[in-house]
Amino acid sequence: MALFFRDHSCSAAVILITLVQIFYIIYSYTFIPPEELSEIKEIRPIRHIALKHRPLDGYVVNLTLINKYCEPELFDTDYFDTYNIQDCLDYLDERESEYLVKNPDSRIKCSPDSVPMLFHVYWRGRINEKIAFMIKSFLYTQPLDCALLNVWLDQNQENDFSQNSYIQPLLKFSPNNFRLRRWNLTEQLNYDPIYEGWEEKINRQIPTVGYSDLVRFVLLYRYGGMYVDADVLFLRDMRPIYHLNQEFAYRWSFWLNYNTAILRLNAKSTTSRAVVESAMEHKMNFHPFQIKYYLVKKRIVVKPDLDKHLYMMPTTLFDPLWLKVDLQLSNQVIKPNINDFYDAYKSSIVDNEFPDEKEATTSMRNKKEFFRGAFTYHWHNQWESSITENSWFGVLQRGYDEFINGQSPNMYNEYINEFHEEIF
Ligand SMILES: *[C@@H]1O[C@H](CO)[C@@H](O)[C@H](O)[C@H]1NC(C)=O
Ligand SMILES: *[C@@H]1O[C@H](CO)[C@@H](O)[C@H](O)[C@H]1NC(C)=O
Repeated sequence: MALFFRDHSCSAAVILITLVQIFYIIYSYTFIPPEELSEIKEIRPIRHIALKHRPLDGYVVNLTLINKYCEPELFDTDYFDTYNIQDCLDYLDERESEYLVKNPDSRIKCSPDSVPMLFHVYWRGRINEKIAFMIKSFLYTQPLDCALLNVWLDQNQENDFSQNSYIQPLLKFSPNNFRLRRWNLTEQLNYDPIYEGWEEKINRQIPTVGYSDLVRFVLLYRYGGMYVDADVLFLRDMRPIYHLNQEFAYRWSFWLNYNTAILRLNAKSTTSRAVVESAMEHKMNFHPFQIKYYLVKKRIVVKPDLDKHLYMMPTTLFDPLWLKVDLQLSNQVIKPNINDFYDAYKSSIVDNEFPDEKEATTSMRNKKEFFRGAFTYHWHNQWESSITENSWFGVLQRGYDEFINGQSPNMYNEYINEFHEEIF
């Protein structure tokens, strides 16, 4: 202290410096310079992404309400100036409490002892990344206590699937949730007298796509359930449409024709029998454009007639990008706002992909925001395109893999470990 006060001018300087320091501290806490403020503004608020909940047992969609939002009244481009495809997806995503209704006939419970929902997919050749991707989407979304996917393999020479790195990580879900089964045409068609004389009728030269048109009806006529094409991803729990007391396919874009990429039929049902019998009379032609004539034997077919036999679901439920692509509706803003089937494979950002963002980057692609509301996404072949890391499919695939490895939850916030012991 003595040292401190020895020189008067020195102590005044010290006091002055201290005052300046105190003032500066107060100033810096109360006044944020404008450039810092603008930096704070730049920080992106964390977007709230609503969590999905599984539907309750026995609840199914109300088709009247679904159609009101998702079935366009007209199919011309003028009409689509006012109709908004995204409104249908938003309705499906946000208004479940309105359109999911208790099915009074249904005593269906989802438990490991119940009869599972049965799905089928057909695949020709080796198991590769694409079919594994489809199977992963099934495991990521479906209730694993009551969902089983039969993967029908044709022209596949693999004997030891644990040697195939695409399917090996998924084998822990087999046989409970998926089964690799051999497709044998002879065995399938000799099984039922309805196919009598098939050897003379079948065209053995038909390409894979045409062949799979036959496979789906043969499988569903025998086993029942839901057939799903290999270029389809599951996006949400299928129970609310699987358990409708209603057989269905969906509309072929804007035409009055079925797309059977998703096909729900019961075994030996009136409809499945009618299609198989008519196809047998027409050289085993199962082309989707034929189906309506097999069901309604009239020259002019209207949708209400078809719906009585095989309900024609709105396209957007299963194929949310198709109308935009097919009718070239570039004005339609959808989520994600992509324009083409190939866009889901692109590792670079698509023009106007996030219309509200000035500087969109691929890091904004979030696995929870890929066509929310739709039940499935149909990518329409694209077999030659590969899944790149930052593409939408790359983002989804990473999410599926993390779930399967137990690192992160699925879309319903369930971890694999939670039911690991129960299931395996
Ligand atoms: C479905 O919705 C329509 C229209 O709101 C309603 O009239 C009908 O009663 C509903 N059906 C069921 C089973 O809830
Ligand atoms: C297919 O099934 C037929 C009839 O059941 C059988 O004779 C044949 O050996 C099977 N083919 C193969 C490759 O398993």
